[in-house]
Amino acid sequence: MIAIYPGSFDPITLGHLDIIERGSRLFEQVIVAVLCNPSKQPLFSVEKRLEQIQISTAHLANIRVDSFSGLTVEYAKLRQATVLLRGLRVLSDFEKELQMAHTNQTLWSGIETVFLATTKEYSFLSSSIVKEIAKFGGPIDHLVPQNVATDICLYYS
Ligand code: PNS
Repeated sequence: MIAIYPGSFDPITLGHLDIIERGSRLFEQVIVAVLCNPSKQPLFSVEKRLEQIQISTAHLANIRVDSFSGLTVEYAKLRQATVLLRGLRVLSDFEKELQMAHTNQTLWSGIETVFLATTKEYSFLSSSIVKEIAKFGGPIDHLVPQNVATDICLYYS
């Protein structure tokens, strides 16, 4: 079974990586799919984010990294993926995630959303939190892969 793990990944965090590693043990292939969203102002370009994810997941054999635009379910069909993988950190994630899962179900009945409970130590972690800490010069090495920490340090230096 092929799973898509869609997201903004601006940038990828250790919480994302945890979901990718655990997903890679559950599915034949996991496609980490970066959404190109022209209405958002990202910190890193799509190309940079793809590179960051590629480096961070190089130790995993069944991971593919790609970008897409438009509807996630249309991209899933294109890749013959039948699972959407998402992480759930805290209760407040649930409302948005359930709405997304239900929306995707109405768009294509061939898709199943599978939620993995985020590992406890990353339950507070998000890309926005990382950017917030980095902006004020705080430590982020324990929150993102090493290559991403280097990129962020370069950005804010
Ligand atoms: O990392 P994020 O920003 O929480 O990821 C959100 C994402 C990319 C999974 C979601 O916004 C998405 O699937 N966008 C693509 C447009 C789409 O398919 N919308 C319908 C489902 S709500």
